[in-house]
Amino acid sequence: MGTQEYTQFSRKESGVLTCANVLIVASPAHAGAIDWNESSDALPGLVVLPCENTAAVPLDAASVASLIVLEIDPHNRRSMDRLGELKRKLPNLPVVAALPDASVALVRMLVREGVDDVVSLPFKFEELLETAADVMAQHKSRRHGAVRLAPMFAVVRSIGGCGATSIATHLAAALGERDTSGRGVAIIDLDLQFGAVADYTAATGRGSIADLMAADERLDEELVRSVARTGADNVHVFAAPDAIMPLESVDTDRMLRLIEVIRHQYSYVVLDLPANWTNWSLSALTAASQVLMVVELSVGSLRQARRRLDLFSSVGIEGDDVQLVVNRSERRMFRTIDVGDATETLGRPVLGSVSLDEPTVSTAQDQGLLVHQISRKSRFQVDVRAIAETLAARFAPGGLA
Ligand SMILES: Nc1ncnc2c1ncn2[C@@H]1O[C@H](COP(=O)(O)OP(=O)(O)O)[C@@H](O)[C@H]1O
Ligand SMILES: [Mg+2]
Repeated sequence: MGTQEYTQFSRKESGVLTCANVLIVASPAHAGAIDWNESSDALPGLVVLPCENTAAVPLDAASVASLIVLEIDPHNRRSMDRLGELKRKLPNLPVVAALPDASVALVRMLVREGVDDVVSLPFKFEELLETAADVMAQHKSRRHGAVRLAPMFAVVRSIGGCGATSIATHLAAALGERDTSGRGVAIIDLDLQFGAVADYTAATGRGSIADLMAADERLDEELVRSVARTGADNVHVFAAPDAIMPLESVDTDRMLRLIEVIRHQYSYVVLDLPANWTNWSLSALTAASQVLMVVELSVGSLRQARRRLDLFSSVGIEGDDVQLVVNRSERRMFRTIDVGDATETLGRPVLGSVSLDEPTVSTAQDQGLLVHQISRKSRFQVDVRAIAETLAARFAPGGLA
C-alpha cells in the first residue's frame, strides 16, 4: 500500500517533541499534500496512510499508534460508521478528526462520538502537531491519574467498641512496614466527632481534616503533606478535628475531592469511619477498593453487621466489596458462634481473624503507641499483618511514580 513514513515530525522552534507514533489516515489527495518541509528535528513514528474516508481503518496500524488523525466526512454515513467502529475496537486510542470546516455544533457531535479534537483540511503542519501534542498530553495525564490512585481500605464497625479503629491503625502500620516507595501510607480519621486515630498512634503535628476541608481551591499536594501528622512505621495521619463539628455540615463533593487528593500521594489509604452513616460517609465508602467490616462472634455484633450490610447494598456496595474481619477471635472451649457462622449469617467472606490480646492492645493505646512498639510478639499485630499481606497481594500500591 502507499504508506509513507516520515521520520521528521516536529516543530522547528519550540522543540515540542511529544508526538511519536501518530497515524494519519486521510484520502490520497490530502495525505499527499501535507507540507513536511517545515519540519527539521527528527521525531520517529509518524505514519501517513492514504485511504478513502469511507474505507475501514486498518486496525493493525491503528492498534500500534499512540494517536490517530482520521479524515471524516460528517455527512457520509459510512464515514461516520467507520469512526464508530474504530472507537469500539480501540476505545483507548485518542482520535483527532480531520475535516474541511467544522461548526461548533459539528465539533460537539464529533466529541460525543468519541473524538478528542479536530483539525482542518487541508492539513496544516503546525495545527496538526499542536493538536496531536495537546491530545496526547491530556490522555497521558488522564491515564496517570487513574493509575496513581492508591488502593483504599475502609474499616467499618458492626457495633461500638468492636475494634475498628484499633484494626485500622494497625493495618495502616502493617501496610507502612511493607511500603518501600517512600510515599508512605495515609490513614484518614473520618470519625470527625469522636475520632481517636491520632491518639492511638501518637502522631506528631497539629493539622487535621478541618484544615483540608477549609482549603477549597488551595487543596494541593503541599497542603496535604503539611496537614498530615507523622506516625510510626511510615504512617501519615489525617486527624479528626479538635473541635466537634456537626456531621451534616460536611459537603460530600468536597470530602470526596479531599480523599482523592490524598489517594494521589500515598501508596495506600486506610479510612476509619464514624458510627453514624450520612451521605458523605457512604459516598466515601463507595470509593473504597475494599470495605472491611469488623465483627465479633456475638449475636449483637452480627445483627448490627447485617443491618449495615443492607444499608451498604442499598447504595451499591455489595458482594465481596465488603469482607469480614473477625476481632477477638480467641478460641474458647464452648463457643456458640464460630467464624463459619459469621460468614454464613452475613454471606460475606472472612478476610481474616484477629486474636484477643488483652491487655496489650489497650495498654499500648493508652501510651499512644502501636502494639508492636510495646510487644514484639503480639498476636494482635501478627494477625493484622496477615490481613495487610492479603490486601497488598490483591491491590498493587498506588501513589506518585
Ligand atoms: N483484639 C483485641 N484485643 C484486645 N483488645 C482489643 C482488641 N480489639 C480492640 N480492643 C480494645 O477495645 C477497645 C475498643 O476498640 P476500638 O478500636 O476503639 O473500637 P471501635 O473503633 O470499633 O469503637 C479499645 O480499648 C481497644 O484497645
Ligand atoms: Mg472507633
